[in-house]
Amino acid sequence: MIKKLAARIRQYKKHTVLAPVFVAMEVVLEVIIPLLMAYLIDFGINAGNMDYVFKLGIILILLNLVSLSFGALSGKFAAEASAGYARNLRQDMYYKIQDYSFSNIDKFSASSLVTRLTTDVTNVQNAFQMIIRVAIRSPLMLIFSLIMAFGINSRMSLIFICIVPFMGLGLYFIISNAHPIFKRVFKTYDRLNRVVQENLRGIRVVKSFVREDYEKQKFNDVSENIYRDFSRAEKILAFNMPLMQSSMYLCTLLISWLGAKLIVGGSMTTGELTSLLSYSAQILMSLMMLSMVFVMITISKASAERIVEVLDEIPDLKDPENPIYDVKDGSVIFKDVSFSYAKDKSKLALAEVNLDIKSGETVGIIGGTGSSKTTLVQLIPRLYDVTEGAVLVGGRDVRDYDVKALRDEVAMVLQKNTLFSGTIKENLRWGNENASDDEMVHACKLAQADEFVRSFPDGYDTQIEQDGSNVSGGQKQRLCIARALLKKPKILILDDSTSAVDTKTDALIRKAFREEIPHTTKLIIAQRVSSVEDADKIIILDKGKINAVGTHEELLKTNAIYQEVYTSQLKGGSINDEI
Ligand SMILES: Nc1ncnc2c1ncn2[C@@H]1O[C@H](COP(=O)(O)OP(=O)(O)OP(=O)(O)O)[C@@H](O)[C@H]1O
Ligand SMILES: [Mg+2]
Repeated sequence: MIKKLAARIRQYKKHTVLAPVFVAMEVVLEVIIPLLMAYLIDFGINAGNMDYVFKLGIILILLNLVSLSFGALSGKFAAEASAGYARNLRQDMYYKIQDYSFSNIDKFSASSLVTRLTTDVTNVQNAFQMIIRVAIRSPLMLIFSLIMAFGINSRMSLIFICIVPFMGLGLYFIISNAHPIFKRVFKTYDRLNRVVQENLRGIRVVKSFVREDYEKQKFNDVSENIYRDFSRAEKILAFNMPLMQSSMYLCTLLISWLGAKLIVGGSMTTGELTSLLSYSAQILMSLMMLSMVFVMITISKASAERIVEVLDEIPDLKDPENPIYDVKDGSVIFKDVSFSYAKDKSKLALAEVNLDIKSGETVGIIGGTGSSKTTLVQLIPRLYDVTEGAVLVGGRDVRDYDVKALRDEVAMVLQKNTLFSGTIKENLRWGNENASDDEMVHACKLAQADEFVRSFPDGYDTQIEQDGSNVSGGQKQRLCIARALLKKPKILILDDSTSAVDTKTDALIRKAFREEIPHTTKLIIAQRVSSVEDADKIIILDKGKINAVGTHEELLKTNAIYQEVYTSQLKGGSINDEI
């Protein structure tokens, strides 16, 4: 894990090395200063040699200044290194996520990815900064100060040796209790993010169902959980301070008491006592800092693990070694295809599907909700890979194509579609960034969108809000169709894409498709029989299996499901008519 994290330092290697180097130099100076202070007191002040005091005083001031600037420099490098490191981490994670397939994203969930990109990266950034500064400074300081203290008076220095294990034990207790809680907290963070994200995205639904109180309760529960866990963990960590401080006071007390005795006995000078006290402060301070580093590492270890998980995830869909870039035509063949979201053959969403769709055909797909219509068509642009069997486009297995080349030729208007914030033009250009204005208007005309777009005061430059919240459901669907048409694909898949469009406009769209893009294979998933009745063939899906394939007339004669759907819609879907 450490190797993987360290690999992301990249261009900040220099900073990462310089920060500890300057810290080390700062430490050396800080250790020398108390020694010189001892000389100043013993040979200068006590001996009444003012000239010596003056000279050494100036040296001390200079050394202090130099040590301060070393400290500042190391701080600057550490800050730059850690901020840059965090940026690299975030970038690598983000790029990796862009390579994720639908199934990879299903595995993590969007909210968890958001926490990992933000909170977790910040934790690791803080820990990194601490490691290259404090984690170098404290042990060095500890060692140097101990050596110096022993040099001055070895018997008195034994005090430190007695106190350190006591502190170490306390620290071990604190950390081993806090780590599991922190691990849990980050999971709860994921939940908090999910609750907030869901609420904000679905705020209209929340309001229309008057579910604000329920949502508030849900939020409070998660928020309360985080509060409880954090305060529990912090309470444990809070023991750190009193532990360190009581050790510090105990040390000072013992040194002063013993030191006073030794001075009176004549075996120690005042200067030696002063510097010993300084060293004791430095020793304990560095122990305290070291304990804080441990705490920080405890917190960030959980985060680091979560980051590495994202970086280590292998994208499910990979381009083949020698990809094909050219999709010959718009034919689609399913050969004994089975598919499971969980990659578990006992939980198949699609089973034994065989299909043969010729280039340029119009195919309707009908089936109850959950009958796997979406699942079926998602396999064509390779949004998911088949579990068994093969899907062929243009005569070749979809897994042999370059994914981008394939998806450029297979345009899919998703059932849960999104427009992005930006102008209508910008949104349309997702389909083809080089599309001319004429092409855009043409695509919109086909999708019956041109008319309403022109009716907006800003026309094609109208600003679309996030999620397309300022256009109607049917308008949004038509813009999404136009966006897909701009790709000029060989295969066009509409997944329930005209459900919010009135029947007349729906018919106009189909007419335009028939007349203007006759060579494009069109797969149309629909709830309404009228949307598919003029198709070359209609596929009836039932519980993940193909129930029948035929034309409207054939199915109407032979297929029970189709007859049922047809009659219920003919009667306007009214329940009363059935009685
Ligand atoms: N990402 C997913 N992960 C796991 N299971 C899924 C996923 N998407 C769909 N399913 C399951 O697969 C089955 C088929 O779903 P699918 O979305 O293909 O149905 P559908 O026919 O398109 O339904 P609808 O008419 O409501 O759109 C359902 O049982 C659903 O629960
Ligand atoms: Mg669906």
